[in-house]
Amino acid sequence: MRTVRLIFLYVCANSKFTTMFAKEIYIKRRERLCERVDSGIILLPGNVDVSMNYPENTYTFRQNSHFLYFAGLDLQGLFVTIDSETRETILFADELTMDDIIWTGPKESFKEIAATCGIETVMPVKALETFIQKAKAKERTIHFLPPYRAETAIRLSQLLGIPVQEIKYKASERLIRAIVALRSVKGPEELIELEKAAEIGYKMHEAVMANALPGVTERELAAKAEYVALSKGTGISFPTILTQRGEILHGHDHGLTLEKGNFLVCDAGAESLSHYASDFTRTIPVGGRFTQRQKELYQIVLDANNKAFDLIKPGIFYRDVHLASCLVLAEGLKSLGIMKGDMKEAVAQGAHALFMVHGLGHMMGLDVHDMEDIGENYVGYDEEISRSPQFGLSSLRMGRRLQPGFVMTVEPGLYFIPALIKKWQSEKKLTDFLNYEKALDYVGTGGIRLEDDVVVTESGNRMPGKKRLPITPEEIEGLY
Ligand code: GLY
Ligand code: MN
Repeated sequence: MRTVRLIFLYVCANSKFTTMFAKEIYIKRRERLCERVDSGIILLPGNVDVSMNYPENTYTFRQNSHFLYFAGLDLQGLFVTIDSETRETILFADELTMDDIIWTGPKESFKEIAATCGIETVMPVKALETFIQKAKAKERTIHFLPPYRAETAIRLSQLLGIPVQEIKYKASERLIRAIVALRSVKGPEELIELEKAAEIGYKMHEAVMANALPGVTERELAAKAEYVALSKGTGISFPTILTQRGEILHGHDHGLTLEKGNFLVCDAGAESLSHYASDFTRTIPVGGRFTQRQKELYQIVLDANNKAFDLIKPGIFYRDVHLASCLVLAEGLKSLGIMKGDMKEAVAQGAHALFMVHGLGHMMGLDVHDMEDIGENYVGYDEEISRSPQFGLSSLRMGRRLQPGFVMTVEPGLYFIPALIKKWQSEKKLTDFLNYEKALDYVGTGGIRLEDDVVVTESGNRMPGKKRLPITPEEIEGLY
């Protein structure tokens, strides 16, 4: 049987097609994009359905986030072109065939749909080829983004006459920079949607915390989180990490049964109905009671998380917030005898990265790692600051100076990764700062990560949503 497209059902069978925001918002966004790109034609391809295991069994449709941002049309198979000089904007879309109507239901004409995002001109998709040929004949620049899906890369290759393996290298840096500048600063309408995603994320974690008892399986808990995400939003914003092996950073296996004495890491977030993301991590002792050792380690990560919130405000480099948070972590590890010496120097030399191998956080918006499809360094770094090659710091996705309206994650972590500790020990790396025998004694504790989301305000920061998820040891123990 032909697959029913869930998105089509949502917008067609139940209601009149509508974009998330008023059309004036999309018109304004496109105007601001044209001002920055200044010349040439901007080509924005939407996403198409992607097959899972045979052609008509497709993954749930997810629209391209840039397409959503500038056109708001959550439907597959569309293209938009914007002439940055004349401002002429065209939607390329094919009207439904009778077959489409039979299998996926009727909907309005694309003329009506285009009007919902302020686009007046609609042409069939096959007209795009001629449109591009004419533009090329006039030596107009065609600006496009590096594609992250094979389907888009192939289509762009056909349209532009560029070999498919070269497409991503021919992407427009001017367009990338313009989009990063616009999408990095969230508008009030976006902050409302991020709040909704946060609320769903909270409920996901509450469902996990309420059931994290010995004998329950990780799979059952992951399902509880994802049930909330699917019943209140469009689903998860990234594959759920729910594991007692928290030292495996992106471990997606849910094969273990919860055992007393273990930490459980749950890193999970939701996508709101408008596709805005949340991303939270909580680490809890199975059954809700910390051992003394667990509590000591946990408090270090909590202090590192809180330190970031003390500092986040416009003007500060996020790399400096990362380093300040790492210093708190290192001082805590020194107090336990795992690190030694001068902790400022230890952090400068990257010794703490043995235990916190990743960065403090990333931008978040329509994508959980916002805009990373067009290049992490464009999103997190700029002409003022470039990415460090040092181990640990090199994994910091977001380092640049903060502005009001930025939304990021704050996610310090502490991990005892046996293979890494043994490797550094055998290399006698940074022995002035690291007590390897003591560190090996902590192997088996797993990992701890505490992640909140943050909105940069005019004067400081705030968390999205109505409240912070339980995070202090007292709050966690009080749940059980
Ligand atoms: N929450 C998963 C990540 O940030 O990579
Ligand atoms: Mn994250």
